[in-house]
Amino acid sequence: MKEIYAGGGCFWGVEAYFKLIPGVKKTKVGYANSLIDSPSYEAVCSGATNAVEATYLMYNPKVITLEKILSYLFRIIDPTSLNKQAGDIGTQYRTGVYFSDPSDEAIIKKFLAEQQKNYKARIVVENKPLLNFYDAELYHQDYLTKNPYGYCHISLNDLKPEEKKVNKRMLYSDLLRHAEVLFTKDSHPLSVLSNMSALIKDTFTKVSWAGFYLDNGKHLFLGPFQGKVACETIAYTKGVCGASFSSQKALIVPDVHEFPGHIACDEGSNSEIVLPLYNAHDELIGVLDLDSHDYDYFDEEDERYLRVLLNLIKKYLTNHYRL
Ligand code: SME
Repeated sequence: MKEIYAGGGCFWGVEAYFKLIPGVKKTKVGYANSLIDSPSYEAVCSGATNAVEATYLMYNPKVITLEKILSYLFRIIDPTSLNKQAGDIGTQYRTGVYFSDPSDEAIIKKFLAEQQKNYKARIVVENKPLLNFYDAELYHQDYLTKNPYGYCHISLNDLKPEEKKVNKRMLYSDLLRHAEVLFTKDSHPLSVLSNMSALIKDTFTKVSWAGFYLDNGKHLFLGPFQGKVACETIAYTKGVCGASFSSQKALIVPDVHEFPGHIACDEGSNSEIVLPLYNAHDELIGVLDLDSHDYDYFDEEDERYLRVLLNLIKKYLTNHYRL
C-alpha cells in the first residue's frame, strides 16, 4: 500500500469523492503542514496555522497509480485558483499534493508540467513533502456519509459508473434477499450450490469465477461453479482453497501471484477470496471460492456478507459430500 495527501478545497467533498474510486483503500481528513501542533478546525479557519485541509489516501498501487489519482484530483479542482476553491476562500483551501515518499515528488512534478499545457494561467497546485498531518475532529471524518445533504463543492455524480467502486452493501443485500426466497426445504444441496454460484457471478460483474470445492475424504473436488473450466481436484495442502479448508479460515488474497502455492486455474485471475463451507450439522464440507481479474477486489466486507450467505444456505446442505 502507498499513501498520498491531497488538498482540493473543502476536505468533506474531497474525501467523499476519493472514497468512491477503486484502489483507494482508506481515507481520512486532516490538517497538513501546519505551523502549530494539533490545530483545531477553528484555528485552521482563522488562517493562523497555514495548515491545508487535506485528505489522506491509502491506495493500492496495483489497482491505481499516483498519476491516476492526480488526474482524478484535477477533475475536481481549479488548479489555477490560489487559496480559493468554489465558494471557499482561505489558505486552508489551497490545492496541493503532499507526499511522504520522496520518490513521488518527481511523478507529481512531471504530471503538473504536463497539465500546465492545458491551462493559460499558472497552475498553483503545491507539490511538497508532508511535514505533518493532524487528523481533523471526528465530525469531519466521513462527513458526507454522515450528512448526505451536507455542503459539498464537488459534484460526486461526475464519476462514471465504471469509474466507481460497486456498492457492495447494496448488491449483497439484493443477493441475500434473492437467496432467501429462492431455496425451499425441498431444494437439493447441489441445486442450492449451483444457484448460489450463479447468483454471485450474476451479481458481481468483476467476479470472474464463483464456485465450490467439496471434500470427498481424500481431497477437494470441483463442485458447482460459474466461470471458466477449473481444476478438478485440489489437495488439502494446496492452493488458497486447500489453505482455507485446512485452517477453516476465510482467506482474502489481494494478489494471487504473491500467495505461495496458489493454483492458477484461470491465468487472468489476480485476486481471490475463499471461505470454509459447513453443512447443516456444522461439519466442514468444502469451500466457497471467488476470483476476480482485478487486483485487491475482495475485502472484509465481502467476507462478512459471504459468511451470512453461507450461513443462510447451510440449512439446505443436509447431505454428506463424501461422494
Ligand atoms: N485459485 C484456487 C484454485 C481454484 S480456481 O481459482 C477456480 C486456489 O489457489 O486454491
